[in-house]
Amino acid sequence: MRREISIAGRLLTKCRPSVRLSYNPFAQTPGNWPRMSRFSSIPRPEPSTAMDTRNHCAKADRRWWKNTVVYQIYPASFKDTDGDGLGNINGITEKLDYLSELGVEVLWLSPIYRSPQKDMGYDISNYYAIHPPFGTMDDVHRLIAEVKRRGMKLVMDLVVNHTSTEHPWFVESAVSKESLRRNWYIWRPPKYDKEGHRQPPNNWACLLDESESAWTYHSGTEEYYLSLFSPYQADLNWENADVRAEVHDVARFWLDKGVSGFRMDVINLISKDQRFPDAEILHPGKKYQPGDKYFANGARLTDYLQELKEKVLSKYDILTVGEMPFLEDEEQQLEIVKAEEGYLDMIFTFEMMGLDMVSEEGRFSFRPWSVDGLRKTIDKTQSMTTKMGWPSLFCENHDQPRSVSRWCDDSAAHRVCGSKLLCMMQTSLTGTLYVYQGEELGMRNIPATWEPEEYKDVESVSYWTHVCSTWPDGSPERKRAKDLLRRKARDNARTPFQWDSTSNGGFCAAGVKPWMRVNDDYPWVNAAAQVAVARANEKTAIVPPYRFWQRALDIRKQYANLFVYGDFELIQNTHPTVFGFKKSCIQESDVSITVLNFSGKEAEFMVPAEYQVRRWVMGSYDSLSTEKPKEGLISLLPWEGLVGLCKVGANGT
Ligand code: NOJ
Repeated sequence: MRREISIAGRLLTKCRPSVRLSYNPFAQTPGNWPRMSRFSSIPRPEPSTAMDTRNHCAKADRRWWKNTVVYQIYPASFKDTDGDGLGNINGITEKLDYLSELGVEVLWLSPIYRSPQKDMGYDISNYYAIHPPFGTMDDVHRLIAEVKRRGMKLVMDLVVNHTSTEHPWFVESAVSKESLRRNWYIWRPPKYDKEGHRQPPNNWACLLDESESAWTYHSGTEEYYLSLFSPYQADLNWENADVRAEVHDVARFWLDKGVSGFRMDVINLISKDQRFPDAEILHPGKKYQPGDKYFANGARLTDYLQELKEKVLSKYDILTVGEMPFLEDEEQQLEIVKAEEGYLDMIFTFEMMGLDMVSEEGRFSFRPWSVDGLRKTIDKTQSMTTKMGWPSLFCENHDQPRSVSRWCDDSAAHRVCGSKLLCMMQTSLTGTLYVYQGEELGMRNIPATWEPEEYKDVESVSYWTHVCSTWPDGSPERKRAKDLLRRKARDNARTPFQWDSTSNGGFCAAGVKPWMRVNDDYPWVNAAAQVAVARANEKTAIVPPYRFWQRALDIRKQYANLFVYGDFELIQNTHPTVFGFKKSCIQESDVSITVLNFSGKEAEFMVPAEYQVRRWVMGSYDSLSTEKPKEGLISLLPWEGLVGLCKVGANGT
């Protein structure tokens, strides 16, 4: 029987995302964990697990997922081994040595499940099967085995706020109002306006297309279903215990296969206000309004997470990280992740990603950001540790532009320094570190010369279609929109991985058309070129980002007490361009300082008098940086970052 879903004029055209979609804007002990020291550094003991009440660092319980490095793989764009221009699971397996050499310990795979791919796999039609172009379940088993053989772990993406409308549950739910699965999704009757025109049940805007409703009309049963992201992604009804039980089964299925945890997609949207009230009018003149107040962080969220934890997650020694847009309240954040009583190990929040966004305008907007804003945001997330929460650290993921293009300067002159600066920031902060594929190479945003037709993401395509239907060719508005696409589109993170300088950047075979165009810079920004440079040490003149990351990850492990678990404190917190912080731990005689010049201009920074730098262990300009003065006023070059180990005491003695 043919399912009929009327999408009521909703071709994905006039797309502007919701302003507050802030993700665009989502027992092994450390002793058992394999050490990955690749440099001739002095071997250091594993951080002590002794309890001390003096500071957080000493008190922190040390689960394996804290002192680890997670690497996110976007399967479509990682490595194609079967000649269809799309990455696949065997491509990931093929590259495990590259990742292990880098110092990666955990892989997080963006969705590989069967899916119509309307939202690149975040629209799942079968949780127990693999999207055929990515490979087979046997390929996954082989991947898991190979990951384990290298002492690594695999984390899957759990996308259970919604399913594809092609999922059999939804198909059955849509058959009739009496369907046994009707209540698996959120169905509501239409409303009628004064003129008697049919309207959605409320005024919530769709998250990937704010000019449209979050509800989709189904003409077959004359009701609307909630589809917060797109008409092809129907929200599951978590009020229904059968739905929750099925989600538990899905989680168990993958954990029993040997995966080591989940990144949980928009997991704080699973509990919605059951009155489904209209949202307040935040954008007068717009038909649909941001409804996150009613669909995010709902009253039963913690009940659902608790149930999931109790029935499934707590039975395994795993990593859990919840993607939680629209969650800025510190107390609420803490409630989710607090040691022992919390529900998840950590969450992804998006305050930093909002720093360069105009909140009323959403993803495709830009405002200059300030170091002060960055400082405050990071201070807030780092302070979570003092309350027994645990932060996650990331600058990139598949929904964000490339970090060096966004926060630094990706020109030929500064790309390498900027990538290293961001690496130093992340590797010296407390929390679990997430690296996104290509970040370790300093991959950049899509070139300004590309036409919007090269952008493939549903959100970008809709945005551009809307722009074109609103503004004439050659208009300043179109020019501005094109610039915003280049700055902010999710596509920036999704261009194929650049393995080498052969055609298609080695992502797929010569002569094969990749699903998405490879960035033009692949002849000089690629893994082979960077790996070919000798391993980094202080004497190497120019260390490429890959080698720099490799070394930084190693140093992070060696000084885990400071970098992974340490107590964070801002230093010189009024400097206009330099973000400086100190890390300390009662179990360490040294403290570390990280000094990051987020500017294309030189800057001066005063090393606090109470410290004397023993050794600059990392610097954007390699030996030039690490030979800097060890006290007093230091001058920083453009985009120069430094990490130093310091003795504490009067004059550093
Ligand atoms: C968050 C994911 O990261 C994003 O890519 C996706 O579009 C939405 N959730 C919907 O699943």
